[in-house]
Amino acid sequence: MPSHLPWSVRRLPDAGGRVFLVTGGNAGIGYFTAEQLSATGAAVVLGSRRPDRAEGALASISARVPGASVRAVRLDLADLPSLEAAVRSLETDRLDAVVLNAGAALDDPRRRETGDGHELMFGTNHLGHFALTHWLMPLLSAAPDARVVTVGSFAAKSERLDLDDPQSRHDYRAKRAYGRSKLAQMCFGIELERRLRGAGSTVTSVVVHPGGALDSLTPSRPPVHVRTVGARLSAAPAGVLVQGKDAGAWPSVRAVLDPGVGGGELWGPRVFGLRGEPRREAVWSQLADPSVAARLWRTSRDLTGVDPGVLS
Ligand SMILES: NC(=O)c1ccc[n+]([C@@H]2O[C@H](COP(=O)([O-])OP(=O)(O)OC[C@H]3O[C@@H](n4cnc5c(N)ncnc54)[C@H](OP(=O)(O)O)[C@@H]3O)[C@@H](O)[C@H]2O)c1
Repeated sequence: MPSHLPWSVRRLPDAGGRVFLVTGGNAGIGYFTAEQLSATGAAVVLGSRRPDRAEGALASISARVPGASVRAVRLDLADLPSLEAAVRSLETDRLDAVVLNAGAALDDPRRRETGDGHELMFGTNHLGHFALTHWLMPLLSAAPDARVVTVGSFAAKSERLDLDDPQSRHDYRAKRAYGRSKLAQMCFGIELERRLRGAGSTVTSVVVHPGGALDSLTPSRPPVHVRTVGARLSAAPAGVLVQGKDAGAWPSVRAVLDPGVGGGELWGPRVFGLRGEPRREAVWSQLADPSVAARLWRTSRDLTGVDPGVLS
């Protein structure tokens, strides 16, 4: 894309020769992130815990993007000990960007845990991505200017972290635990940038959020997602406020590709932070407190046994 043209989600720059990983790339926003990145000529890897779902996503992208270079690796963020081997299975010597997109959102009032004994949403969304980033760092450092793109949520905006009870052992509420897990991820993304700069790294960290993205407003991509005519018609009024998952991918895609997006920035949809083309937002106050972020980092390091801020 010539540099004088403004950014457009419909006119992406060429990214041939680069390698991108999208966690949760088999469904939802992650699928569309992978599809849109594939159309730039980049090699795109889907991180997916379910090989059957990954196969469907690969087939859909290959059918829509002629010549797409896309493959999948098995990745289960809820299984911390498996992540080192998952990164080895990438079989690449560099990684130009990872989109930390996969997310678990539960509404069951019963508190659930990962196999490692962590509250499921904090364990998957935050600790899983924290540990994954650690194992990816040598590959990211091998690229000239790699990016870590953390996908947060507007659901985090009204939450505060409780670092005395990060695993929601007391007074568990699913919606709050989800919002806090996303807030933890977003704090991580901002703190990671601080630590990378301090370490003199070439890697940068950017935080994005997709706004509101509904399956019922999302175009069909069989076998990944099929939208019925009825679902489309009944969701149409919601389109005034929110958008489909295809558009929910736009902030992530811009954060990966746009050289004008800088480390430590927050990007989200233009219209009330809920829908539309991506734009830069002021970093929310609850993301900007270095002492909270440092405490979260220590907690995360103690729980995972790894530290993505220490570069080898
Ligand atoms: N949709 C929205 O309105 C919205 C708003 C704000 C933020 N977000 C954030 O955007 C991201 C994508 O959301 P979405 O709406 O696209 O969700 P989605 O359609 O439910 O897709 C979630 C993806 O995460 C994967 N995943 C879940 N647990 C995993 C694990 N343990 N290991 C690896 N992958 C796992 C899922 O894999 P399976 O297919 O195997 O389940 C799926 O690929 C999430 O981080 C979410 O928090 C979404």
